[in-house]
Amino acid sequence: MNLARILDTDHEKPQVTKDLFEAIPDATAITEDLLQIGQSNILRLTGEFWTSGQRQASSLQEISYRACFKPQLPRYFIKRFTSEQDVVYDPFSGRGTTAVEAGLMGRGIIANDVNPLSRILTEPRLVPPTANAVQDRLAQIKYEEKLAADLDLSMFYHRDTESEIVALKRYLAERKANGKEDNVDRWIRMVATNRLTGHSPGFFSVYTFPPNQAVSAESQRKINEKRKQTPEYRDTKSVILKKTKSLLSNLTDQDRANINKSAMSAQFLTGDARFTKSIANESVQLTVTSPPFLDIVGYASDNWLRCWFNEIDVEAVTGTITMAKTIEQWSLVMGDVFKELYRVTKRRGWVAFEVGEIRNGKLKLEEYVVPLGVEAGFSCEAILINSQIFTKTSNLWGVRNNKAGTNSNRIVVFRR
Ligand SMILES: C[S@@+](CC[C@H](N)C(=O)[O-])C[C@H]1O[C@@H](n2cnc3c(N)ncnc32)[C@H](O)[C@@H]1O
Repeated sequence: MNLARILDTDHEKPQVTKDLFEAIPDATAITEDLLQIGQSNILRLTGEFWTSGQRQASSLQEISYRACFKPQLPRYFIKRFTSEQDVVYDPFSGRGTTAVEAGLMGRGIIANDVNPLSRILTEPRLVPPTANAVQDRLAQIKYEEKLAADLDLSMFYHRDTESEIVALKRYLAERKANGKEDNVDRWIRMVATNRLTGHSPGFFSVYTFPPNQAVSAESQRKINEKRKQTPEYRDTKSVILKKTKSLLSNLTDQDRANINKSAMSAQFLTGDARFTKSIANESVQLTVTSPPFLDIVGYASDNWLRCWFNEIDVEAVTGTITMAKTIEQWSLVMGDVFKELYRVTKRRGWVAFEVGEIRNGKLKLEEYVVPLGVEAGFSCEAILINSQIFTKTSNLWGVRNNKAGTNSNRIVVFRR
């Protein structure tokens, strides 16, 4: 069902500062039309606003997560709507794409996600250590004993790899428990969490798919049978060091200076996006975010192995994650999120709210989002549809719509 009616006249075109939405110079032209949604006439702009391909993005962003957006998306809005002293917020932070991008651009950062994994994946990348510091620390971690996990992980790992993972898990838990955990430990935890499962020898596990989530033990057994594979040994310290070097590979001195400065005041919250009391009224200049979409992704269950490694109770987290089954339930939750966003957003500040194409494009969430923001007090400035065409070499990881050929982000832009 579509809520919007396409207007065939631009008679009542809203006064939108269209130059804010200019496409990158070599992009295909933007098309525009006008939608009537409820009482509002909304300008919809469609085009390639940022380029596909990960080339221009920082290597520091190369951490996989279910349904993450590309760094180019938050960068586009941060560049246009903020300056250095401003705070950028993401209430559904995931792997922290917005937070890391804001840090690279020297902005203030607030990041929230109901899943504690989000902070584990984000915070260490705001204070990246040197590869040497990571190498030295790894050398100090003892792996002698033969250890086994408290659950059957034999379908994912060789016995010796499993033993190393358990030793690392224990080391990290101990450092945390006795207050000795530092930035280097947190970095190692973040990288190890990211390397638990994947499709290549660059991960601890035997081949698994998809790369950014752990399938169930049963499904992994089936993958192994089908591919006639058994887990081979992986040297976990080498894997961690290699990924560390890759994450740091294009980080410039300026990036480090910016991100370290932003890290000093960064605020991390682990809770429901509707209740963020510790964020001050009118303190955020820009929110760039992408909410959970109905019940499409099981953010906690897909991350069960990552949760196990970090001693996070998956069941407890699953209970707090928004998994609305119907658009009505989803709208109720998001309506409250918008009220909270209105409270924390500065006057004349912005919200860029990204939604995907759900149910093969039949459900256009952006058209449901417009009235929610307007009801909370925002004005809806535009809907941006960023359409990207993948080339053969495009990196499909983490991209939500990974049907071959195209990917589109649909962003509703609000102003307070
Ligand atoms: C689409 S993902 C965000 C991905 C993020 N943009 C990124 O690039 O990684 C949605 C996130 O919302 C989180 N989440 C679900 N329900 C929530 C709630 N009620 N409050 C806060 N976070 C929630 C999930 O844990 C998930 O990480």
